[in-house]
Amino acid sequence: MSTNLQGKVIAITGASGGMGFETAKMLAARGAKVSMADIQEGPLMAAADKVRQSGGDTMARVVDVRDESSVDAWIEDTVAQFGPLDGGVNLAGVLPKTFGTHSVAETVSSDWDFVLGVNLTGVMYCMRAQLRHMKDEGSIVNASSVAGVQGFENNASYGASKFGVIGLTKCAACDVGPTRSIRVNAIAPGTFRTPMYESVIEARNGEEMPTIQKIKREGQPSEIASLVCWLLCDESKYITGTVQLIDGGWIC
Ligand SMILES: NC(=O)c1ccc[n+]([C@@H]2O[C@H](COP(=O)([O-])OP(=O)(O)OC[C@H]3O[C@@H](n4cnc5c(N)ncnc54)[C@H](O)[C@@H]3O)[C@@H](O)[C@H]2O)c1
Repeated sequence: MSTNLQGKVIAITGASGGMGFETAKMLAARGAKVSMADIQEGPLMAAADKVRQSGGDTMARVVDVRDESSVDAWIEDTVAQFGPLDGGVNLAGVLPKTFGTHSVAETVSSDWDFVLGVNLTGVMYCMRAQLRHMKDEGSIVNASSVAGVQGFENNASYGASKFGVIGLTKCAACDVGPTRSIRVNAIAPGTFRTPMYESVIEARNGEEMPTIQKIKREGQPSEIASLVCWLLCDESKYITGTVQLIDGGWIC
């Protein structure tokens, strides 16, 4: 069994962001050919340049995961450049504009559509395209959250999207395990200091989130990268349909 990812072709979304960028870097450092996708062109190209400067083999495409033709074209380009996929990592995600402020009875429909569109439908579009071009024994990792395993107040759209990712992940594992030995798992992060987290702190006028996890610190994006790399490599090849909490013991 191998912990490295030498020569494996991995397609990753959210690749210019906190967790996605750290994961793309680690994948490339372990020998993978990494196809990076994100909606933000400037940050994506800068992120891909940094991966290349460290010796990584990467390509980058601007993709809106809500647009199925954009997703399909990205995966087709990836296969044309690197060959069929060994793995997919679907981390692109957003918070509602009303995060933490609106109860379910006050849900703003446009905000609901935005969050479900990126966080859930976007994961489905990506996974669907990745599976069409994935080798047998491949592996997919999708981003859920602690908000996908536990309810929180004023969090209906984000929570529904992240619970949905877990359902989607488990159903996909049932579909592609028996026939193709492809594995599909979700990660459920707690609090990680990334641009998304910084936007929450900003909305709270600089007030930090309470430290309710048992390990008394926030997670590091590199710790997400380590977990994702493990879920993609042969060391985890009997693990599928699971939700990997990575939350410093927030939920335990
Ligand atoms: N940071 C945390 O504490 C935390 C906790 C639990 C779950 N998560 C989840 O982990 C994942 C990564 O989060 P992060 O903290 O790195 O966030 P981030 O905001 O730093 O990065 C998310 C990336 O997704 C991209 N993106 C947004 N909409 C997109 C779209 N329509 N198409 C393509 N790309 C798009 C953004 O441009 C950004 O680069 C997200 O799914 C998030 O919901 C984060």
